[in-house]
Amino acid sequence: MTQDELKQAVARAAIDYIVDGEIIGVGTGSTANFFIDELGKVKHRIRGAVASSEATAARLRSHGIAVLDLNDVQDMPVYIDGADEITRTGAMIKGGGAALTREKIVASVARRFVCIADGSKLVDMLGQFPLPVEVIPMAHAVVGRKLAALGGKPVLRIRDGQPLVTDNGGYIIDVHGLQIADPVALEDEINNIVGVITNGLFARHGASVCLLGRQDGVETLSFG
Ligand code: 5RP
Repeated sequence: MTQDELKQAVARAAIDYIVDGEIIGVGTGSTANFFIDELGKVKHRIRGAVASSEATAARLRSHGIAVLDLNDVQDMPVYIDGADEITRTGAMIKGGGAALTREKIVASVARRFVCIADGSKLVDMLGQFPLPVEVIPMAHAVVGRKLAALGGKPVLRIRDGQPLVTDNGGYIIDVHGLQIADPVALEDEINNIVGVITNGLFARHGASVCLLGRQDGVETLSFG
């Protein structure tokens, strides 16, 4: 199976986690896109969805799925999203698609985070994938220096010759070369740097379940 076929397989398997008659939180990225396409086939089963990015909102609407404002939502049984890396304890790096802040906000409302990923995303230690950090644009240089002092190599994410601007108007710094032995501590430490909007460590509130696409089927990892 190709990587896309593995992503499709976990996206299909994730349909088992939707709760009938309820609102679902939906992530961003290629795996989340496969999930949205599957969700479109069973859209009558849900009340609507909360999107973690403008791109996800547009794809949900293209399937005729109602996109709700998070401010109007009090209860969300499940949030479904991909990851760039995930450990066997459910800690993740996310933000390869620059949607980390809204992903973390929507996930914080959900009772369960169902991670959907192809098997290549499972790692022993986070950090091989550069850690995305969303920052206020005027602070990118000072935040970059502080991230370098933590031992990483910060690189401002560029798109079409300009700093990439997120849905929130922020910039993304990708921090290379980290070996993240204590993801909860590093998540807190980076979030305490003035000028940081969010970092892509999802460790304090990690995945509840991960559906991992393997050549011989979908493996389910459950955390806590
Ligand atoms: C977007 C994300 C994605 O979940 C992550 O980048 C994985 O993407 P893909 O499913 O395309 O591999 O965090 O901000």
